[in-house]
Parts: sequence; structure tokens; C-alpha cells
Amino acid sequence: MAFPDSFITELVDRSDIVDVVSGYVRLTKRSGANLFGLCPFHSEKTPSFSVAPDKQIYHCFGCGKGGGVINFIMEIENLSFPEAVEFLARRAGIPVPEQSNDRDSQRRARMLNLNRDAARFFYEQLSTPEGQRAGEYMARRRIAPATARQFGLGFAPNSWDSLLHAMERLGYSPRELFEAGLVRQGKKGGFYDAFRDRLMFPVIDVRGNVIGFSGRILGDGEPKYLNSPETLVFNKSRNLFALNLAKKSKSGYIILSEGNIDVVSLHQAGFDSAVASLGTSLTPEQARLLSRYTDQVVLAYDSDAAGVKAAQRAITILEKLDLRVKVLRMSGAKDPDELIQTRGADAFRNLIEASENQVDYRLRAVTDKYDLSVDEQKVEFLKEATDLVARLPGPVERQVYAMRVASLSGIPTDAVTAEVERRRKRLLRSARQENERRQSRPERQAQPAEKELHYADAASAAAEEGLIRLLYLDPDLGRNPALPEAEAFSSPALGHIYAAIRSRLQQGEAVSTALLSETLSQQEMSLLIRLLQKPERLAQGEQALQDYIEKIRQQKELAAGNADLNALAASLRERKGYKGKDV
Ligand code: CTP
Ligand code: MN
Repeated sequence: MAFPDSFITELVDRSDIVDVVSGYVRLTKRSGANLFGLCPFHSEKTPSFSVAPDKQIYHCFGCGKGGGVINFIMEIENLSFPEAVEFLARRAGIPVPEQSNDRDSQRRARMLNLNRDAARFFYEQLSTPEGQRAGEYMARRRIAPATARQFGLGFAPNSWDSLLHAMERLGYSPRELFEAGLVRQGKKGGFYDAFRDRLMFPVIDVRGNVIGFSGRILGDGEPKYLNSPETLVFNKSRNLFALNLAKKSKSGYIILSEGNIDVVSLHQAGFDSAVASLGTSLTPEQARLLSRYTDQVVLAYDSDAAGVKAAQRAITILEKLDLRVKVLRMSGAKDPDELIQTRGADAFRNLIEASENQVDYRLRAVTDKYDLSVDEQKVEFLKEATDLVARLPGPVERQVYAMRVASLSGIPTDAVTAEVERRRKRLLRSARQENERRQSRPERQAQPAEKELHYADAASAAAEEGLIRLLYLDPDLGRNPALPEAEAFSSPALGHIYAAIRSRLQQGEAVSTALLSETLSQQEMSLLIRLLQKPERLAQGEQALQDYIEKIRQQKELAAGNADLNALAASLRERKGYKGKDV
């Protein structure tokens, strides 16, 4: 179905938009770089149709239409994408290539084979003289050889080209290794091994494919871990380390920890359902993946401040999927590995059994504060307890805990439930008002020209536009594992544009208006051109990206009425602080 990207890019290079448009519209130069003319797509007396030679796009300020040269031909000649491509190819005198569609699946299969061969190479290095050092390191961390074998751990030698040469001997090209993230390219164009002198953890998906690697330094030093970049087959946000093993566990729950070493250590101690989230904080995709294999997650995060914060975020994500969450509180050890090494597997098992779920834990803290045999205190208790319950996102959850509050206080369940829902309505109302108040005026007014594309949620749409703009202008940001799914977008058109860009980036393909023309409708293309012209905080791209993602998430929850009100309040506070510092 698709034309090769290289062909489309060449075609567009050889079809200058000014030349092409000039065949239909008389363009004149005014001040600035752009050319203007009377729009061919709506009737007008003063020119509002502009062509930007530098960006190779057109845009009409009157009717909102816009796009690249292919869109122009599609629109004005009323052609489909392939027809417009052929039209332009004839015009430019370029032959149209055969169309192939299983190219990607072939590339993917080959990359998986390469990864498997690389994992085997790393594993074999453990028994070389140099590999002894990795063996000694594992011995120091008390990782038994059988455990190493179970995880397929290996050793990347301290060399610039041993993997490169070994894989070349197996018939892989340096380019293929590069695309798999196994080698890097130096300034002079030569390739060198990306992982050197490291203990290698293959990342294996639930189907048993080696999709990437994580390499730990032997001992102290920076960076402690190196991870494969996002590739055709590796997407950090959608996979979990050791889920290939944990999915077979009969324990009835999955233990989610932070570190690869923790996972290895847990499995070795008999906790065969441990996984870790590949160095990122838990993503909604990972949570969804977990929910395919279990309905209960035991959080065993590090006990430092960062770990507690990460656990809190994870709880929010997991509870949305109706997963039961237990939190281990590891006092006296920094992480599960240390706990097992110093106090043994039984200590860890006891912790799992003693662990409470979050709400129980908080509700108990409230109950302990009051003497429920004293009437006034009972009233205070009821206030505080119903407030806690009212902030829970799930209706079933609220019902269950309202019942708990009722039995603790001796007040009828119906009365407690009514009080909880009344409070929740009030909390939601004020959260919405607060949110509305914080939206800037231009944000609320920026609607697309086309009525069909009207934004139902202007604040979310502004953030969605921002996310698209960032990905388009700085494709490196497409590797961010926190990027939401297109379904999270409030505007279907923006969601579709976003999905198209993101899927190209995920395949390692370039993004341009021409390359997107096949997938996007003319209206969507016009929308894209328009939103690209708004200013963007490119210098702080990562931060801007985070802000947009957070905004979209919040608006969605608010709209659905299942907002986590605690989290929302916290982030509104944070944003206030952030603005105070930065603007
Ligand atoms: N991580 C990473 N890059 C780093 C540091 C950490 O990707 N520079 C990821 C790794 O997946 C690591 C996890 O974050 O497993 C947790 O980090 P950390 O606790 O530092 O590593 P551990 O695997 O627990 O190793 P150790 O027990 O030796 O500290
Ligand atoms: Mn750790």
C-alpha cells in the first residue's frame, strides 16, 4: 500500500510548491518570505492564501486549508493520495516504484534474530577469561549461575568492536546493528559497540523475543545502567523486565519493583512473579499489560523518597485498571535485594503477608485519631473519613469503603454513601471551576476553522496541539515513554494526527507533511499546518512535553468525573509553583 519514504521525499524535493501552486494561483510577493494569492478553495476578494517556500507549505488564513504540495494537488485536482503522487511524479518525470508492504515485518524479524544472536554472544562471553570479572561481580551480588542462566545474563567485553565483528561474521550489517541500538556511530562514521564492560540483562517480551538490553556497570561508576534505545522492536513503555518469567507464576499476584537486580534477586529467592519497569516510572501501557496476567500487584519499590513517590504514582495508575494494589513498606532496607540479602526470603514473605492496601492504611490512620464513643468526635471522624472516600476514583471502591466507614461508626450505610457522593460532587465542581479559571483566554478560544473539528475540550486540545507540535518539530521527543495513547486525546482529529506521527516515529521513520499526506485527511492536514505555526517552547522540549501530557490526563479525568482529586490538587499546586519560578 505505501510508497517508500525515500521516494516520497525525493518527489517532494523535486516538486517545488511555488512552481506547482503557480500553475493554479497567481502568487505575488509581499513583505517577508511568503507569497500570497487569492485562495483557490474559497471565494475571496483580498488574498489570504499564502505559500511558504522555506517550509514548502500553503495555508489559507480565510478558510483554514493548508498542507504540503501533495495535499495541494489532492485538493485542487480532487485526487486520492496515490493518484496525487502519480500526478506529481509524472510532472517531475520520476518513475513510480513498485509498492511493497511487508518490508517492516521483515526488518522486525531480522532485528529480533540479531538481538537473539547478540544475547547468545554476551552469554558466551561469561566463560571467557575476560568474562571472569562479570562472574566475580555476580558472585559478589550473590547471583547464582543457575539464576544467570535463567535470565540469560551475559557480559559485554571491554572492547570497541567485539560484538560488531561477531555479528558481522553472522551476516548482519553494521547498519542493522545500529538500528537495533547495539552499536553507535562515531563522528567519522565508523561504528563501535554500544555496550562495553557491562553485565548484560536481555529484555524479553511475553512471546519470548529478545527485544533489547540493559547493561549494568560492574561495580560503581556512571552511568550505572545503559539501556537499548527505542527501536522497531523495543518500546520501553510497553514492556516489563522479566514478565516473560513472571507470567508463568502461580502466586496470584505480580511483584513490581524498580531494579533489574531486585527482580533477579527476588526470583532467586523464590518470588517468581517479580518484574521491573525498565528504568522508567510505571506507564499506563505497562499497567495494562500487567492487568492481562494478574488482578493484584504488590509494589516493592525502593524505600527512599524517590521510591515512595514512584509508588504513589504507580498506585494511581494501577487502581484505575481495577487492580488490587498492596504496598510493601521496607523499613531497614533500601530495596528488595538488600532486604533478601540481609534478612532472608522469609522476611520478604512476611512483608507481603502483612502489607495493607492503600485505602485501608489511610482509613485506619483516620480511625485511630478519634474516640468513636464520643459523639462530637464521631462527627469529625465522619467528615474526615467521607472526605477520604469521596476522593477515590472508582465508584465501586467508594461504595466498599463507605460500607467500611458505616460499620466503624455505626451510621447506616445509605447515609454514609449519600454523604460521600455529596462530597464528591462538591469536590469535582470546585476542581472543574479551578481548572477553568486557570485556562488562559486564548487557549479557550482557539478553535479550528472547520466546524466538524470543533474542540469539545479546548484546554485539552491546546495541550494535544502542543504535543503534536513538539513531536513534529523535535522527533527525538517521540522516544519519551510517557507519551499517551491517541485515545487519550479529546479531539479525534488531533488524536489521529498524533497517532500518525507517533507511529512513524516509532518505526524510526521521518515525519513531514508529505509523508503524512497519505494518512491524514485534508482537514487534518490543514489543522496540522495551522497548529505548527503557533509558538513552542522547543528549548525546554522535555518539560513542555511533560506539561502537555499531564494536562491531557487531567482534563480527561475531570471530564470523566473520575479524577483522582488528591493528585489533581497536588498538580495544581505544583503548577502554581512552577509558574512563579519560571515566568
Ligand atoms: N536505571 C537506568 N539507568 C540508570 C540507573 C537506573 O535505566 N542510570 C534503571 C535500571 O533499569 C535499574 C533501575 O533503574 O534496574 C533501578 O535503578 P537502581 O536501583 O539504581 O538499580 P538496581 O538494578 O537496583 O541496581 P543495584 O541493586 O546495583 O543498585
Ligand atoms: Mn535498586
